[in-house]
Amino acid sequence: MNIVRTIADLRQQVALWRTDGHSIGLVPTMGALHKGHLSLVDEISAHTSKIIVSIFVNPTQFGENEDLDAYPRQEAEDCKKLDATAASLVFAPSVSEMYGTGHKTRVTLDGISEILEGASRPGHFDGVATIVSKLLLQSLPDVAIFGEKDYQQLAVIRQIVRDLNIPVKILGGTLVREDDGLAYSSRNAYLNPTERKIAGHFNRILSKLVQAATTSSDLRTLETQASEALLKAGFTAVDYVQVVDRVSLETLDSLSATARVVAVARLGTIRLLDNMEIGI
Ligand code: PAF
Repeated sequence: MNIVRTIADLRQQVALWRTDGHSIGLVPTMGALHKGHLSLVDEISAHTSKIIVSIFVNPTQFGENEDLDAYPRQEAEDCKKLDATAASLVFAPSVSEMYGTGHKTRVTLDGISEILEGASRPGHFDGVATIVSKLLLQSLPDVAIFGEKDYQQLAVIRQIVRDLNIPVKILGGTLVREDDGLAYSSRNAYLNPTERKIAGHFNRILSKLVQAATTSSDLRTLETQASEALLKAGFTAVDYVQVVDRVSLETLDSLSATARVVAVARLGTIRLLDNMEIGI
């Protein structure tokens, strides 16, 4: 797998591909690649002839109490996994390459970045918006893909691309699940066997809510029932289970169009995210 580490080298490679008439896809990641990431590479390969996978553990999206240093870094393993995919290039810059001395700009959003995950992790989405804007402007891809597993992140990115008129098509990558329905996540590796078993109930409980939501007018009760079921299944806390508008992510009182249930439940210190479409 070809790796470039500087923005200049990335731009040079992209320019060469453009000269040869290629279309460019970008798959931004923080590494520690699992099946969910690899499926993003697979999905975008139907849209572009060259694919850049960025691997960068972005410090600005971590809060003070979140352990940036403990985030898994396994570049060699990641590259080996990517060798078996349609990826053309890995962009793995250093922190100083991405945030050089005197870097002062932050991309911040109102509203959507302050609710749900944004309320639990203040500043997180500003860090995501900043790094994703930079990655998009550095590589100028035709298409970029972000997993639907981090549904709010995807909505935030769609918003910045709209607001900043960045000329790229954003794709939402299908949420990939393990055999028991648990969404693939780098965090799953931290679960002990007992917690891993409990985690499998997340998908079942949200699916039940989705089914009930199509016939019930009392969404708050369904959310409460799902939270209670998660606690009963063994989750140690539930941050939220909320039925929201699929674009603004604002809480809905009733369903008039396709919506989304978004949820975060904890097993000890591990926060697991999941979400599902509610069709009507
Ligand atoms: O989802 C992630 O891995 C990260 O938040 C992203 C989009 C690569 C930005 O650092």
